[in-house]
Amino acid sequence: MISESGRKRRNLIVAGSVALGLVALLSLEFSLTPRTDRGDWPTQFRSNGEQLYFTGMNSNGEAIRATGGGHMQMMGGGSCAACHGVDRQGGRLRPTYWTVAPAITEAALTGEHGDSDGHDHSSYTRESLAEAITKGVRPDGSEIGSRMPRWLMSDEDLSDLVAFLLPDEGS
Ligand code: HEC
Repeated sequence: MISESGRKRRNLIVAGSVALGLVALLSLEFSLTPRTDRGDWPTQFRSNGEQLYFTGMNSNGEAIRATGGGHMQMMGGGSCAACHGVDRQGGRLRPTYWTVAPAITEAALTGEHGDSDGHDHSSYTRESLAEAITKGVRPDGSEIGSRMPRWLMSDEDLSDLVAFLLPDEGS
């Protein structure tokens, strides 16, 4: 038979482990979620493309539109930064942690990925990046998952956005 103090101690241990587990989960949450805090945004946008990336609106205040993308799309107010993060490093989405928005830094977009991580697309050019954003097709012809919205915007906005994402590549 367990004594009264033994039971108290056991309860304390259980409560302690639960608390520790919560702390561990929370830190995982912070390390995996893309940084999308408005506080981290640039205070001034240097280009129409940059403004589109962060706000989903062009410098005339017109919103770009999208289909697909699901819940997060509606919650996040429809900007690339909402899913791919302020620093474009990507991360797991909320609340669907199994969905990962990939990094779309210039290095990630132009680097050849090995096949070991199951992520094997060839390098993007500005042209194929525009196709990916509007039609959801990678340079190798594979389809981007449906959690990535298909975007609708003017040719001018699209070319500004693509130039922001791939500044070093001439169009
Ligand atoms: C609702 C969340 C969400 C938003 C908003 C979003 N994306 Fe994505 N994006 C994703 C997800 C998820 C994937 C990966 C889908 C997959 O794995 O097939 C993706 C994939 C991509 C890819 C393909 C990357 C690769 O490695 O091939 C590009 C490029 C991209 N997004 C650009 C953009 C741009 C530019 C915007 C803003 C106009 C944007 N995304 C907005 C979720 C989002």
